[in-house]
Amino acid sequence: MVKIGIFDSGIGGITVLTELCKRLKGVSYFYLGDTAHLPYGAKSPSQVQKLSVECAQVLKKKKVDALIVACNTASSLALEAVRAMMHPIPVFGVVHPGVQAALSALEGMKSGDFEIPLLVLATRATTRSQAYALAFEKEIRFCPQLKLGRFPVLEQPCSVLVPLIEEGWIDHPVLHQTVAEYVRPHLMRYSTGVALLACTHYPWIHSAFEKALPGWRIVNSAQAVAQSLVQSDLFGGSIVSENDQNQIEWSFTDPDVVPEFAKQIIYNQPFSLCL
Ligand code: DGL
Repeated sequence: MVKIGIFDSGIGGITVLTELCKRLKGVSYFYLGDTAHLPYGAKSPSQVQKLSVECAQVLKKKKVDALIVACNTASSLALEAVRAMMHPIPVFGVVHPGVQAALSALEGMKSGDFEIPLLVLATRATTRSQAYALAFEKEIRFCPQLKLGRFPVLEQPCSVLVPLIEEGWIDHPVLHQTVAEYVRPHLMRYSTGVALLACTHYPWIHSAFEKALPGWRIVNSAQAVAQSLVQSDLFGGSIVSENDQNQIEWSFTDPDVVPEFAKQIIYNQPFSLCL
């Protein structure tokens, strides 16, 4: 059985794991949520690097065949440090697949001289790192079709959203109002664009972003990450075995702070659990 390690600063990586489980069967997943140190998004780059390497070390001891850094903040700030420590085990980050998915979403939107914004919604540490802005710039520079258009990258830190989601306020008026407040300046300037949910928690509030950004395309980076892993050399683009069950071993550095709604998701997974 292929073993895949996946870590996040907390419960958010469950959004990535859920997408993986839909696409890859017969896999043994080891999920580590660093709930004792959440949020990474408010920490310094060196703190994020230290914590990320520590998480990866725990999963390396499980003898995983590949590691996924599901956390966008860790992927933005610590991917190279984690890769160096895990070598030669392949390490997959979330920035590159997210950027690719956002650029694919531009298909059919490119028209004449129009400016189409690429809005990165993420934690403050992620936007400060400019990892997404640099990755977009690089991709756009090497893509002849995109070089002709104007695709400004806008980065919006949404610091209050993770605590609201952790509180379980996924469909709460306060959540909807907060999302609207974050996107308002961008919506006032652009009636259309691509918004990339560049934080593990945000796929849970996908509909809130859709509601707040009418006319925009919303890209879920959890789906993009799962798709990139399926297409990687590790799996060669095929589901391992359609009928096989997945196994998941969950661990959290502080299990007491795992929110109730996340526990429900964990216990309702349609696959076997080893806790
Ligand atoms: N997992 C983090 C991310 O995807 C969000 C939560 C945090 O700030 O630690 O950026």
